[in-house]
Amino acid sequence: MPTITINGQTLHCPPQTSVLDILLNAGIAISYACKKGTCHSCLLKSLDIAPPPGSQTGLKDTQKAQGYFLACQCRPDENMVVQVPSHQDIYVDVAIAGKKMLNSQILELTLGFEQPFDFKAGQFVNLQRGDGLTRSYSIANPPRPDNTIQLHIRRLAGGKFSNWLHNEAQIGEKISVSKPQGTCYYLPDRPQQSLLMVATGSGLAPLAGILTDALAQGHTGPAYLFHGSREAEGLYLVEAMRELAAAYPNVNYFPCISGGTENPQYCSGRANDIAIATLSNLKNWRVYICGHPEMVSQFKKQAFLKGASLADIYTDPFLLSPS
Ligand SMILES: Cc1cc2nc3c(=O)[nH]c(=O)nc-3n(C[C@H](O)[C@H](O)[C@H](O)COP(=O)(O)OP(=O)(O)OC[C@H]3O[C@@H](n4cnc5c(N)ncnc54)[C@H](O)[C@@H]3O)c2cc1C
Ligand code: FES
Repeated sequence: MPTITINGQTLHCPPQTSVLDILLNAGIAISYACKKGTCHSCLLKSLDIAPPPGSQTGLKDTQKAQGYFLACQCRPDENMVVQVPSHQDIYVDVAIAGKKMLNSQILELTLGFEQPFDFKAGQFVNLQRGDGLTRSYSIANPPRPDNTIQLHIRRLAGGKFSNWLHNEAQIGEKISVSKPQGTCYYLPDRPQQSLLMVATGSGLAPLAGILTDALAQGHTGPAYLFHGSREAEGLYLVEAMRELAAAYPNVNYFPCISGGTENPQYCSGRANDIAIATLSNLKNWRVYICGHPEMVSQFKKQAFLKGASLADIYTDPFLLSPS
C-alpha cells in the first residue's frame, strides 16, 4: 500500500481513499470545502513525485509545474511526500468593509483590499476564518476603483460559515481571501452574441456581476436573466435588475417564483423551465447557470437540448460542504 508523508508523519493510503480523507482521519488540519475538485481549497504540494494527473485537473499550468495538486482528488498509487502551502501563498488577509441585507436571507458582504486584486466578476473566492473553516463565494461586481469585492451570502439554516458571517463577523474584522477561481465570467470576444443567465437564490451574485461587466464592456447582443426562488421574498435586487433592463434595451429580466402563488409582478414557475419556454433556440448562445446544484445540472441538459454548445455553457453549482 502506498504511503503519504507530511510533516515527517507517514500514513498508509487505502485504495479509493483520497489524500484529503487520509489526512483528516489522522487528525491533520487541512482546509477543504467541496471535496469535489471545485473549490481548490485543499491544495497541497508534492515535494518528490509528479502528482497523479487527475489530481491537477483545473489547476493553472504554473501550479501544475510546481507540484500542486488537490488533496480531495488524489488517490496515490506510489509513495508521496507532501507539504501544506504556506498561508500567504494562498490567502491575503482582507478587512470586512461593509455588511448590508439584500433580503431577509441574503447578506451583501463587502471586502476591501489594500493591494490591487485581479479578478473577473462571476469568479469565486474561498474565504477562510481564523479556525481554518473555508467556504467558496462568488464575486458579484466587476473590478472598480475602490478595490472592493461584493459577495452575496445566503444564510443556510444551521450553516456554520454563513451564520458566522451574518451574525458575528464585524466590519473591520480581517478574513482570509484566496485568489479568484473559476471560468464563469464574461468574455468580450463576441459582443453581439446572445447571452442567457439562469440563477436560483444567491446564484444571482455571479450573474449580476457578469451582466454588469458585459454591459460595461459594451455588449450589444441580447441578454436574458432568469432569477428564481420559491417565494417572492427569496428574490432580491429586483428593482436594480428592472432598472438595468429599462436602461439597456438588450437586457431582459425575468424574476420567477415557483412556490405556486400567482403574483402579477413575477413569472410563475421555475426559472429554468421559464427560460426554456421563453427562448426557442439556443444555438450560438453563451449560457451561464449558477446556484442550486440540481437546477444547474438540469438546466445544462435543457440548454444543450435547445441547441447550446457544451463549450458555450458555463456553470457554478453552489455545492455544499459534506457534513
Ligand atoms: C463555486 C461555489 C460558489 C459558491 N458561491 C456562493 C455564493 O455566492 N453565495 C452563497 O450563499 N453560497 C455560495 N456557495 C455555497 C457556500 O460555499 C457554502 O456552501 C454555503 O454558504 C453554506 O456554508 P455553511 O458553512 O453556512 O453551511 P455548512 O455548515 O457547510 O452546512 C452545509 C451542510 O448543512 C446541511 N444542510 C443544512 N441545510 C440545508 C439545506 N437547506 N439544503 C441542503 N443541505 C443543508 C447539509 O448537510 C450540508 O452538508 C458556493 C459554493 C461553491 C462551491
Ligand atoms: S477542491 Fe478539494 S475540497 Fe474543494
